[in-house]
Amino acid sequence: MRALALLALVVAVGCRAQTSEPAPVPARAADSVGQSLAPRAATRAFSQEGAVAYQEGPASADGTGRTYLGREIAQVMSHRGAAWLERPDREREERPAVLVRALDLAPDDVVADLGAGTGYFTFRLAPLVPDGRVFAVDIQPEMLRIVEDRATTEGFANVAPVLGSETSTGLRPQSTDLTLVVDAYHEFSHPREMLTSIYQATRPGGRLVLVEYRAEDPDVPIKPLHKMTEAQARLEVEAAGFQFVENLGVLPQQHLLVFERPAE
Ligand SMILES: C[S@@+](CC[C@H](N)C(=O)[O-])C[C@H]1O[C@@H](n2cnc3c(N)ncnc32)[C@H](O)[C@@H]1O
Repeated sequence: MRALALLALVVAVGCRAQTSEPAPVPARAADSVGQSLAPRAATRAFSQEGAVAYQEGPASADGTGRTYLGREIAQVMSHRGAAWLERPDREREERPAVLVRALDLAPDDVVADLGAGTGYFTFRLAPLVPDGRVFAVDIQPEMLRIVEDRATTEGFANVAPVLGSETSTGLRPQSTDLTLVVDAYHEFSHPREMLTSIYQATRPGGRLVLVEYRAEDPDVPIKPLHKMTEAQARLEVEAAGFQFVENLGVLPQQHLLVFERPAE
C-alpha cells in the first residue's frame, strides 16, 4: 500500500508500455553481429505533431517494427525478467562501479535514473548524493515496487520512484543535474518525445549520460536491437538539442556517452 501511495504522488499521466517476454538475454554468435547498423526499409510512415517521426514495418526478432532515424526500436523488457538485471555476473560484465565513478557526482546533485528497472544503478548512485536525490523513473509499476521496497528496507531516504510514461519522464522542468539511462534508451517506444522530455527536465548545463552496448563491436554478445552505435546515438540525441561532450570509453562492453543541455 505504501508503495502504491507513493507512486500515486509522483505518477505522470500517460499510457503504460506494452511489455514483452523474455528479457533481453545475451545472444551468441550469428545474431550478435551488426544487423541493426543498417537503416531498415520502412513500409509505412506515420506522423506526430505534423512531422514524420517514426516509421513502421515488419518487426525483426526482439523488435517492434517501429523505426526512428533508421533504427528499429527494441521491445520493452518485462518486469518478469527483473532477476536478469541483478545477475551476479553483471558486476564483471559491465563494471558498474567504474561507470558510477566516471559520473563524478557532487553530493547535492539531483539525478534521474531513467528506465531504472530494479534500481540496479539507483542504489549505487544514492550514497554518492547524500544531499541530493535520485529519481528512479520507469514505466512499469512492478519495477518501481521493487525499488520502493528496497529503499524502505535499506533506509534510502533520498530515492524517489517516479512512474513515467512512454512519452514523458514525469519530472519537473529543469529539475535534474544528470539523467542516466543504462541499457534502456534503445527500447523507448517514443525516443523523440522522451528526449524532449529529458531535455526539459535537465537544468541548463546539466548532463544526459547514455549507456548502450556497443553495436560497432561484434564481440559484444548482446542481441543487435539491444546495442547502439555511437553515431546513431549522437544522431538521435543531438536532434533533441543536446550537445555531445565525449564518449568516456571506460567500460568493457558499453558506450558511456556524455551529452549536455547547453547553458543559457
Ligand atoms: C533493460 S531495463 C534496464 C534497467 C536498468 N537501467 C538497469 O540497467 O538495470 C530497461 C527499463 O527501461 C524501462 N523503460 C522502457 N521504456 C521506458 C520509458 N519510456 N521511460 C522510462 N522507462 C522505460 C523498462 O520498463 C525497463 O525497466
